[in-house]
Amino acid sequence: MKTTQIAIDGPAGAGKSTIARLVADLFDFTYIDTGAMYRAITLKAMRMNIELVDEEAFGFLDDTEFSYVEGRLHMDGADVSRDIRTREVSNNVSLVSSHRLVRKKLVERQKCIAKDQDIVMDGRDIGYNVLPAADYKFFLTANVKTRALRRFRENEEQGLHIPLEDLESEIIARDDFDTNRIHSPLKPANDAVIIDTSNMRIEDVVKTIESIVKEVD
Ligand code: CDP
Repeated sequence: MKTTQIAIDGPAGAGKSTIARLVADLFDFTYIDTGAMYRAITLKAMRMNIELVDEEAFGFLDDTEFSYVEGRLHMDGADVSRDIRTREVSNNVSLVSSHRLVRKKLVERQKCIAKDQDIVMDGRDIGYNVLPAADYKFFLTANVKTRALRRFRENEEQGLHIPLEDLESEIIARDDFDTNRIHSPLKPANDAVIIDTSNMRIEDVVKTIESIVKEVD
């Protein structure tokens, strides 16, 4: 059976997860948030008190179990979707995801998940590394002020009060780290459609993607 793969990449706060989830619902595809996996590994490493700079300490990944239950990430049987969104995890995840070993193991799992089903997968390296043969590839971007403001509003909705300027500098630092790392940095695939969402509403981005994804079977 021919399946359809949609890859969505982009920097922090560009709207990837919201849009990827809506696109997946629209076509009745499975949505996989790969950033959540990197966040979960970071959370586990922090709970285990391991040195995050020490790549060799991430061998525990082999015994870590992931599953997506109704769009929520479970790790080792527990729902971690809330705990992976803390500021501490956000500020450590780029370091953890820069390790070659961590990427190799997670990318293997991501490829495996995407193999036999219609999928929308979002992340930083999906279009050129995880699913290089994806049917449709998008790279969502937005100026840093807009992205920080979106994150600020998301946080406020959840009762998390982090000053806007702190969020902006944390986003800049994470983008910088993700873009300049050696192993599969943040970048668009050569054949990705780049969408600047700075002045677009969510529905309009979804419509743009929908109009490009025509041949869904
Ligand atoms: O949602 P947000 O834009 O804050 O980021 P995320 O998608 O949750 O990803 C968190 C971090 O995981 C990123 O800043 C990257 O360091 C890393 N990541 C990655 O390296 N490769 C991916 N395919 C997805 C995320």
